[in-house]
Amino acid sequence: MKYGVLTSGGDTPGMNAVIRALYIRSKSSNHELIGFKDGWKGLLEGNIMEISSDIIDNIDLGGTILGSGRTNPMNIDNGVKRIKKTISDLNLDGVIAIGGEDTLGVAHKLYKEGVSIVGVPKTIDNDLDATDYTFGFNTAISIATEAIDRLKTTAKSHHRVLVVEIMGRHAGWMTLHAGIAGGAHLILIPEYPLDRTVITDLIKKRYDNGDTWGIVAVSEGYGFSDGETVDGEKDEFGHVLLEKMDIGKTIADLINSELNIPTRAIKLGHTQRGGPPTAFDRVLCTQLGIVAMNLCIDNNYGKMPSLQGTKVVPVDLENAVAKLKTVDDASWSFATQLMGI
Ligand code: F6P
Repeated sequence: MKYGVLTSGGDTPGMNAVIRALYIRSKSSNHELIGFKDGWKGLLEGNIMEISSDIIDNIDLGGTILGSGRTNPMNIDNGVKRIKKTISDLNLDGVIAIGGEDTLGVAHKLYKEGVSIVGVPKTIDNDLDATDYTFGFNTAISIATEAIDRLKTTAKSHHRVLVVEIMGRHAGWMTLHAGIAGGAHLILIPEYPLDRTVITDLIKKRYDNGDTWGIVAVSEGYGFSDGETVDGEKDEFGHVLLEKMDIGKTIADLINSELNIPTRAIKLGHTQRGGPPTAFDRVLCTQLGIVAMNLCIDNNYGKMPSLQGTKVVPVDLENAVAKLKTVDDASWSFATQLMGI
């Protein structure tokens, strides 16, 4: 049998570890694996890449050897037809799509159109449903936590508040986890917006207590409770390009102007997706890759390997893409109890 793999959406630590596991499992069962370049674009255009045995020694390599992109084949004329033609021209038995909600949403639609496809859940945002964690999340929160740890030194030495802007689009998982792990004094996520006065009161209380420094962890997609909306330039999947929005600076300006406390904003940006995956993500990616290849071999398409507790088991793609997994009340309550609100 012959299979093709693509990586789509934001590059995520662990993509190569998944490709490696797919490769090892395909070889051990005498199947062939090829790669498509730059996400769905490669599948649309039949732009392929040989995956060599070099991948075996690259479990720790960040990014993706295949390249990635945010092309949405559903927005392209005859997108589905062109994908089916590539699959048939290359005599492929199945396709593996490694990606987040957008990518797996497309994979699900293609499956409904008769394409033999399996998804693999990736995203640093951890906002994909039907899996406990997506790969890349653990690495991203480790990077963000280390950044907070390092920023504390400057905050303390200069008696400043530092506002750390963390990725995560519509879901606050990264900010919540990195904020808790880094001991941030304020955690601001899109799912639970706070009043401006709650924000300034908490910082003021800290300074009044003699703790003249502070760390605020804020999600890039945060908006205040008065409903100030986030709007701006959008990508192919209709998402606002949040890196251009600067919510960290807005929070820093608020603290500065209301409390006259020196406050700076730091945008972690793509640092959070860079470099090698953590040990947790390497193991998860290996399990996901092996289960995904087994699903292909078993002709069991329209599925996605998912982490359920400590086990990786197949679930229907349909369940993974039905809704976004955002921060829930129980998870948020840990932050409110830590902040004392
Ligand atoms: O979905 C992963 C992610 O890193 C989000 O956290 C972020 O909003 C977005 O991608 C940034 O996308 P890009 O790298 O295309 O600007």
